[in-house]
This record gives sequence, structure tokens and C-alpha cells, in this order.
Amino acid sequence: MKFFKIQLHFPDFTVDRKKKVYIETYGCQMNFSDSEIVGSILLENDYLPAADMKSADLILMNTCSIRDNAEQRVRKRLNELHSLKRKNPSLVIGILGCMAERLKEKLLEEEKHIDLIVGPDGYRSLPRLLEQVESGQKAINTLLSADETYADINPVKLSGNGITAFISIMRGCENFCAYCVVPYTRGKERSRNPKSIVDEVELLYEQGFREITLLGQNVNSYSWGENGSSIDFPRLLDQVAGINSNMRIRFATSHPKDLSDDLLNVIANHENICKAIHLPVQSGSSRMLNLMNRGYSREWYVQRIEAIRKYLPECAISTDIIAGFCSETEEDHQETLSLMRWAAFDYAFMFKYSERPNTIAAKKFPDDVPEVLKSRRLDEIIDLQQELSFQSNKNDIGKLFTVLAEGVSKRSDNQLFGRNSQNKVVVFDKEIFKRGDYVVVKIGSCSAATLKGKAIGDE
Ligand code: 5AD
Ligand code: SF4
Repeated sequence: MKFFKIQLHFPDFTVDRKKKVYIETYGCQMNFSDSEIVGSILLENDYLPAADMKSADLILMNTCSIRDNAEQRVRKRLNELHSLKRKNPSLVIGILGCMAERLKEKLLEEEKHIDLIVGPDGYRSLPRLLEQVESGQKAINTLLSADETYADINPVKLSGNGITAFISIMRGCENFCAYCVVPYTRGKERSRNPKSIVDEVELLYEQGFREITLLGQNVNSYSWGENGSSIDFPRLLDQVAGINSNMRIRFATSHPKDLSDDLLNVIANHENICKAIHLPVQSGSSRMLNLMNRGYSREWYVQRIEAIRKYLPECAISTDIIAGFCSETEEDHQETLSLMRWAAFDYAFMFKYSERPNTIAAKKFPDDVPEVLKSRRLDEIIDLQQELSFQSNKNDIGKLFTVLAEGVSKRSDNQLFGRNSQNKVVVFDKEIFKRGDYVVVKIGSCSAATLKGKAIGDE
């Protein structure tokens, strides 16, 4: 899953006495989607978006706990907020998301200038909690829910490019991978009513969006039952893809243990379902996968990749890899490198193992791979992936791709950038094209990160 930091940049409404909120989001796409839900709840409750932190009456940080450095980044930012609070004592600062859930009251004790703590299932209570803060008390809600999906809340899409959007289709995770804090911070798995998903896709299409990513910690576990019948992820995907063939569909994240041939068939049957699958492998060693409680072996993973290649020959495959998990030997590490070479991943997110308090690994296994070894192994993984990504891009030279233009390229106003179905970034001369167009581009050159080409027409 992608990890990044995004600000929700709202337009600055200036003519009012209403309070203004600024939301800063850390971590995964799921958090980004949650911040839009929070934005929507607050806008309904008399808040307006602030253009920046300095003009805000309320600053919310939607946080991530997946690795220690994700939490350290938030702590650093909180230190910077001290001075804002000194200048404006009525400024309210709140922590949302996984750090709020993981640390609860402890965060209030450790960071004295925080007023509000709300976990991922508590966002509906924000208006009530903010009233409590206004009356001079600190406020906290870290209750996890078995059924909250925020299905009825239409997230505000005031940020972003107006072309691509995330839709969360399920929440929580019950896989309990040994290293992972998510099952504790995001709680039980629950799926969202498919009707509300379809309605949101239709609305986004009307608003001009042309690509949606269906989000869940493990989308393959999607399951919605009603009146004796049930719908699983392949059926949901089939339904969503059928809404409009001009709307591209992506999804993340798939768990290798649940990736079925049925799903691959649905992807093959719809031109508008993007041919890109994110399939986190974590390690190439079956011994490590077993310790990690991943529920599959190296052989199973290999056989799933073979199935993808069979059903979807054009499909890009990306992955997540952890270097230096508990007791990882040099042989285990070499198995990861050899699997990477065999699979020829197009892209990867690569991390050093970071022990998270109270996870299965923290309780059962010593974090015994020395830091220097973890770093060396991660470097080797990154170097290899760089080669594989570059080779994958070189293989595309001379090919034609339909690219959905997302905006003007950072490097030049005369160029647009977008993505092809395989989720690769493609840059091309603007000519007559604009954001939201589907453009056929012939690839002429590449780096490890980007394809460059010439537009040869619209679709
Ligand atoms: N340490 C390092 N990486 C982790 N991930 C999850 N937990 C940890 C951890 N404790 C990685 C996994 C997962 C991705 C979202 O983050 O690779 O797929
Ligand atoms: Fe964490 Fe595993 Fe759940 Fe992914 S599937 S969120 S890695 S426990």
C-alpha cells in the first residue's frame, strides 16, 4: 500500500465568523479517505476549511502507527505546533487515526498541547467532542466499532486533482500478521453496503472524476450479506466496473492468500478495470512468511503470480517487502531477492522491520536482526527493485498506452502527466489535451520511475 503525506487544501472562504479547520494526513490512502469523511462531518457542523495551519481554529492530524518512524514524524510536527498554540491559546489541536487509537490517554499526558484524541471509528462524535473542548475539557473517543463504515457520509472531495478519487469499501483487518499494528488500531473487518459504493461512484462520475480506487486493508475479504444473498469482492468489482466504461477502476490492497481466479477473471472481462495488482509479498522465504503469520508460502505466492500472468498477460504487479524481520537469516534474505528477480515486480514499497508494541511479533519474537544488517538488506532490496523497475519501463518503449491525463507535469507547463492502466506515470507533450482526457501515447523513452512518450490521439 502507498504511504505518503497529504494536506487537504480547501479553498479559503473568508467572509464569515465560522471556525476553520485544517487537516493534515499521514500514512496510507485509507487515512486520506478518512480525512475526507472527517472534512465532510465538520463542514456539516459549521466548520469551514482553512487554507493553511496559521489561519485555522482547529488543526487535526490524521496519523499512522505502522512503523515507528511514521509516529516520530507526527511527534516532530506536534513540536512545531507548540509555537502556534502559544501565539493563539484558543487554537484546538486534535489527533485522529491510528496513533490516537494506539496511545489513547497516554498521548494527552505526553503531549500537553493536544486537546482532542479520536480513533478511526469515532469521527461521528467529533462535533460533540469539540463542544467538550470548548467548555475547557480535553476530549477523547477511541472506541472501536464492529459495524461503522461511514457509508452514509459523502466524503468532501475538495482536494486532489478532480480526476482520481479513493472510495473506502471496507474497514479494519483481522489477519493479524505478526508484525502489524493495524488489527489493533483499526479493529474488526467490516464491509460497506454495495449500494452506497455504487451511488458514490455514480456521483463522482457526474462530478468529472474518471478513476476511482476501491480501498480496504484486504479488499479480497469484502463481503456483504442481505436478505439471504451475499456479495463478495469479485461481484462488487464487476458491478462497479459496469457503471460506466469511461470510469477506470483500481483497487488496493489484495492479500495473496485470498486472490482468486474468479477475481482475475472479472478483471480480464472489463477493459476499465486497470491491469495493475498490488500484492504484498513481505518476504520470499516460506519460513519467514510462516513466522509473519501471512497464511501462504513462497510456492503459493509464485503460483498466484503465475495465475495473474495467465489471465492478465499485460498486468503490472507491485508489492511490499519487509527487510530484517525477526530471526531473518542471510538465506532468507537471498530468497527474497530471488523471488523479486523471478517475479520481476514493476514496483515495490520496501521497509525495514520496525517492532510495534503489543503485536504478535513484539510479544513472541526478539527483534534480533542488527540495525546495520537490516539497512544493508534493505539497500540491496531497493537496488534490485530499481533495476527491475527500470527494466520493466524499458520493455514498454515503443508500446502504445491509453493514459488518463491527471495534470500538468511538475517539470514543464507544456507537458501533461497521467497513468496508464498498469499504474505507471507517463509524461507527454500537452498539445491539444487537458486534464481528464484519455490520450493514446507512444512511449519513446523512460527512467526507472517514469515513461515518456508522444500523444498520438485521443481514445
Ligand atoms: N515494520 C515494517 N513494515 C511494516 N509494514 C506493516 N507493518 C510493518 C512493520 N511493523 C509494511 C508491510 C505492509 C505495509 C503497508 O507496511 O509491508 O504491507
Ligand atoms: Fe497488517 Fe496483515 Fe492486515 Fe495488512 S493484512 S493490515 S499487513 S495485519
